[in-house]
Amino acid sequence: RHIVAVVPAAGIGTRMQSDIPKQYLTLHGKTILEHTLERLSSHSLVDSVVVAIHPDDRLFFNLPISRHVKISTVTGGSERSESVSNALQALPHDSWALVHDAARPCVCQKDITRLIDTEDLSPTIGAILASPVSDTLKRGSDGYVSDTVDRSQLWRALTPQFFHAHTLLNAYRQAHLNHLTVTDEASAMELAGHKVKLINGHAGNIKITHPDDLSLAAFYLQQESD
Ligand code: C5P
Repeated sequence: RHIVAVVPAAGIGTRMQSDIPKQYLTLHGKTILEHTLERLSSHSLVDSVVVAIHPDDRLFFNLPISRHVKISTVTGGSERSESVSNALQALPHDSWALVHDAARPCVCQKDITRLIDTEDLSPTIGAILASPVSDTLKRGSDGYVSDTVDRSQLWRALTPQFFHAHTLLNAYRQAHLNHLTVTDEASAMELAGHKVKLINGHAGNIKITHPDDLSLAAFYLQQESD
């Protein structure tokens, strides 16, 4: 199998309250995007990496890692799904896409390997890293609890998400034509009637979204390298 990591990194991170996009904030002396790209490009099962960057991005090509032999770029879109689709279109025929958020630098190599090695994958069966929900979940209405949601079957969808690239691209096209909003690859595949396996991943693989997430990510990154 030819495996390409696809990294949507074209977001502007409005929830981060920062002047620069969150993937360019620094943790332990390196940008979040560099941490993410290092973990993907150094993985022995990943053949190449395609990064979707914003058309106005002036920072990416200043990073030494932008010249890495395994790494190339495409232009991102206005939605995450569009950024991923642009990358999928650039992939060789019959490749497998390992889609991973730029904003998740703490992913560990072991989880990537387990995801890629999932049994019984096929063009219509993919897999994602996910983590069981541990909090009690409430549905809210006007500031009050309306009811408690049964969490026994609920998972947090993480990335990477691993799918046959061409099938995924078609699933995204179908969702787009039907005006359905999807926030991850699995949603597009589910809507197209395909199967998605859940692979239990490390809960420390957080998506940096709010300012508070930075110190937590710094902690998990440190833990990994020790
Ligand atoms: O905004 P959110 O945290 O959901 O973004 C998840 C990932 O998708 C981030 O790595 C972000 O850079 C990327 N993204 C993108 N193109 C967009 C919006 C988000 O590549 N238009």
